[in-house]
Amino acid sequence: MAKVQVIHGPNLNMLGQREVDVYGENSLDEINASLAAQAKAAGVDLATFQSNHEGEIVDVIQQSDADVIIINPGAYTHYSVAIRDAIASIKKPVIEVHLSNIYAREDFRKDSVIAPVAAGQIAGFGPDSYYLALDAAIRRLRPETSA
Ligand code: DQA
Repeated sequence: MAKVQVIHGPNLNMLGQREVDVYGENSLDEINASLAAQAKAAGVDLATFQSNHEGEIVDVIQQSDADVIIINPGAYTHYSVAIRDAIASIKKPVIEVHLSNIYAREDFRKDSVIAPVAAGQIAGFGPDSYYLALDAAIRRLRPETSA
């Protein structure tokens, strides 16, 4: 079965409690449960992982046996050359996700060091950013559905 790995970066374990006006009221568990249901309906295996530690995220990117990776790198988006290099070192497509529209916020959020090595980026749709990314991953895995 095709497999998708979702990686949530730092502070995303605080979703639902953290800056709810920016990131919304859904918890990470709720988002992961919706992703699991979406993957199941599509017949795709899904693994989810959250870490506040850059090196652990690098390890999962290097070691993942998934066909597609979806990542919200959190604040690492804006400066982690290590995560960028890990993505560049693997052949599988990586989809970058953000709950908020990083281009409509502080200047320091407008640069993503991940974007140039990602297959694509979805930002600004709250939890729907993840669901749209999973849809894009499923369509990549099943080219016949993306006519
Ligand atoms: C975020 C945007 C980042 O700038 C921020 O540091 C986050 C979350 C988002 O999902 O909108 O932690 O990646």
